[in-house]
Amino acid sequence: MPQETTPRSAAPWILSAAAAAFAIGVATSPDTIKNIFFDIQDVLTGLPPQVQSIPPSTFAALPAVPPENIANITTLFIPPGSTLESLKERPFHVYHPDFLKILGRSPTLTLIADAGTDPLFHEAVVWYPPTDEVFIAQSAGPPSAGTGLKKSSMISKISLIEAMAVSNERNAIGKVQVHTVPTEPPVINPNGGTNYNGAILFTGEGMGPDVPPTLFIANPREPYNTSILVNNYFGRQFNSLNDVSVNYRNKHIYFTDTVYGYLQDFRPKPGLPNQVYRLDPATGAVTVVADEFVRCNGITFSQDGRYAYVTDTGASKAFYGFDNTGASTIYRYTVARDGTFEHRKMFAYAAVGFVDGVHCDSKGNVYAGVGDGIHVWNPSGTLLGKIFLGEASANFQFAGDGRMVIGAETHLYYATLAAKGAPIS
Ligand SMILES: *[C@@H]1O[C@H](CO)[C@@H](O)[C@H](O)[C@H]1NC(C)=O
Ligand SMILES: *[C@@H]1O[C@H](CO)[C@@H](O)[C@H](O)[C@H]1NC(C)=O
Repeated sequence: MPQETTPRSAAPWILSAAAAAFAIGVATSPDTIKNIFFDIQDVLTGLPPQVQSIPPSTFAALPAVPPENIANITTLFIPPGSTLESLKERPFHVYHPDFLKILGRSPTLTLIADAGTDPLFHEAVVWYPPTDEVFIAQSAGPPSAGTGLKKSSMISKISLIEAMAVSNERNAIGKVQVHTVPTEPPVINPNGGTNYNGAILFTGEGMGPDVPPTLFIANPREPYNTSILVNNYFGRQFNSLNDVSVNYRNKHIYFTDTVYGYLQDFRPKPGLPNQVYRLDPATGAVTVVADEFVRCNGITFSQDGRYAYVTDTGASKAFYGFDNTGASTIYRYTVARDGTFEHRKMFAYAAVGFVDGVHCDSKGNVYAGVGDGIHVWNPSGTLLGKIFLGEASANFQFAGDGRMVIGAETHLYYATLAAKGAPIS
């Protein structure tokens, strides 16, 4: 290669985006061959109908790159040669060949419910295996939901049997029933949720100054009775509890607390730092395991319980706009034997929207809800691919092997793929 002595020799794809995709002639290094093999696979053998490849080499050097007031955290990334329509048409985007193993032979994505303007499908996507149902919480706060100070957001559920029956369709609105779950006493402003000992934990964000943020445990069957696990830190109100996860190894309950109730005008001024707490269920003791966030949000653990992943949505100020320089970041911690967190590490920064709900699969890959759907990273933080919705997902969850339910505020999706989730508690 003539460019051998320049830095560009390490990246032959820089010749041009179009040439890089199919240029067999420049295949001189093993790396190049690998890249090209990946593209040729796509062309010659064809990917599954809902899958397309978007190798990073095809957009690493763009002819023009717009400034921050045009391309920023609120805008979608449309790679060269793509349109919003083409991205949605084949919604499984392969940025790295390893994503094909996660997707399997014929991944599917189905829109199963549309709630109009009501963000009914916001967070707490929790699969309850005994009845094969999935529970999901409405967004607390948005004016379109009429929630916040006026009324508590509600919990809904769907049956996976109904979702499975329509997985060969792209749009199955109306074919999957959405049922309201009347918890009693009610979970006030539920947000995050997770399985726990045959029940479901919900974080409640609180309401006004007199209903404190609360960690609830709910019976997933009628009469949907609930109990309070924690509602204070040594007598002080939390800010607004956001998400909760149980560590598979030590069975301790970890939850995040952040200021979104205040930033959505339904909670008073925050009285504590935004931080991650741990509840030892054997003793009821609550400790703080991590701080130094702008706004900590989602939390999960790797399949073996060794790592914790915590998202920071510092870029989102909810009713008060965006901060393009704020965090949309996943941090990874090592979970020590005693359940404390150590070795905070920058794991990934999502380029589109805010990185919110986060979950691992059984192989340690990390999935998060972001501004255009679900992004999937390998354990080293390289983006493997996306489940592209063209709209934001705050949370989602594996619902048994190869099945996933994805909340997108007013829309609910059902996906099938090869991967399976980390074990549930
Ligand atoms: C981000 O980009 C969008 C779309 O181009 C634009 O409307 C918005 O004003 C930008 N935001 C900022 C903070 O510049
Ligand atoms: C629901 O009620 C049953 C029967 O009283 C009780 O055993 C169970 O612990 C309750 N569940 C919760 C989450 O409060």
